[in-house]
Amino acid sequence: MSNVVVIGTQWGDEGKGKIVDLLAESADMIVRFQGGNNAGHTLVIEGKQFICHLIPSGILHPDKTCMIGNGTVLDPGVLIDEITSLKDRGISVEPGRLMISETAHVIMPYHKWIDHGRERLLSGDAKIGTTGRGIGPCYEDKIVRKGIRIIDLIDPESFAEKLSAVIDEKNFYLSEYLKSDEVLDSKSIREEYLGYGEKLRPYVTNVSVAIREGIRKKKKLLFEGAQGTHLDIDHGTYPYVTSSNTTAGNACSGAGIGPTQLDRTLGIVKAYTTRVGAGPFCTELLDATGDRIQEKGAEFGATTGRRRRCGWLDTVVVRNSVRINSLTGLAVTKLDVLGGLKQIRVCTGYRYKNDLITEFPNSLRVLKECDPVYEEMPGWQEDITGAREFDELPENTKDYLKKIEDLTETPIQIISVGPDRKETILLEDPFAPETD
Ligand code: GDP
Ligand code: IMO
Ligand code: MG
Repeated sequence: MSNVVVIGTQWGDEGKGKIVDLLAESADMIVRFQGGNNAGHTLVIEGKQFICHLIPSGILHPDKTCMIGNGTVLDPGVLIDEITSLKDRGISVEPGRLMISETAHVIMPYHKWIDHGRERLLSGDAKIGTTGRGIGPCYEDKIVRKGIRIIDLIDPESFAEKLSAVIDEKNFYLSEYLKSDEVLDSKSIREEYLGYGEKLRPYVTNVSVAIREGIRKKKKLLFEGAQGTHLDIDHGTYPYVTSSNTTAGNACSGAGIGPTQLDRTLGIVKAYTTRVGAGPFCTELLDATGDRIQEKGAEFGATTGRRRRCGWLDTVVVRNSVRINSLTGLAVTKLDVLGGLKQIRVCTGYRYKNDLITEFPNSLRVLKECDPVYEEMPGWQEDITGAREFDELPENTKDYLKKIEDLTETPIQIISVGPDRKETILLEDPFAPETD
């Protein structure tokens, strides 16, 4: 058995898409298990860029099966557009090759309006800076048992019943509380969404059963996390988080398998830290170095186009991810972006009042008062994007990587030195069988 979960260790946008695309070569089935089109996973192959929001990042490999699990939330219009635009670029996205869980929840128009309306009402530091895609309100309805699932979207009677059960409440909330001008019209929503249901019907299946069939046939599974560990609803910087469990454990409940099926967990670590949206960020750089990293790393959100906040690598954050996800290996990405800096800093702990903290604090009040403790290392001036072996890296780059391994007590298995699939150093294939 060799199944791998890929998750982000920081606040998202670590380069999960690139690594999933790369590892998909060794896998048979690639499964998204949480989140929705708040995600933007970028793949670059021979200079051509693709951004996957919902469809798993294995889709560019023609012989792989891509699955969207029950733990995700799906905006059907967006999903259909994504299928169409991939097809327009010559990618096969046929039913059977893409499977959608019948129990994933549907993002409805009111979820998006509520998301926008709530953000509009919040001011200053209270704003979360959501992607506005209706993610939180959709998960909220799932939890209070008022959600509409894909299985309802393809069943007109059930869809009409579920919609009519919530529509008055949603209209009341939108107009009376959020003071929104949007008025929901059941009939037009029904027509529009049942139309989406018809288009998606051939893709809809019991993903858990399909995965079990794969496991029986000894297929290799690759689980693709979205967002990052510190955006996790339980383990992140709550309330500045997304509304799902982004961590490795959710690969089980979000896909419909048990924990005995997971072998390895690969954490994606950007060589520095970024965050898009609001919330604490201890190593944030609000100076010229931060701007330089932002520009060189082209740090703009793949979903909303927002400028990403940038800062030094925080190994308190990465260590927290190692524990929460039981990481067996790391992939360090965007290492090339740090090239040309005279000195590089890496955060090893936090100073809180007179104490040195090495575990990520759960209290936001404490976190906001923490100052990063840095170790400074000499940078490298060479362009490393052409390196394909560890030994081709400059000594200072190697030292930086060794420092990350030491501070996180986790082996680095993959090093990414550029956005393209081929700009990668593969030290250890996470799908390789155990040697001992
Ligand atoms: P994801 O959400 O974790 O999949 O990451 P995003 O795709 O949102 O953001 C990562 C960005 O960095 C994308 O534009 C990638 O093409 C790019 N990228 C990934 N790895 C590297 C790398 O090693 N070097 C550079 N320069 N860019 C990279
Ligand atoms: P990928 O998969 C980075 C952030 C938003 C906001 C918070 C809540 O590309 O790494 P939401 O719309 O989910 O309710 O917003 O979470 N966020 C992400 N940040 N990468 C992502 O996904 C994100 N998905 C959500 O910016 O701060
Ligand atoms: Mg992204």
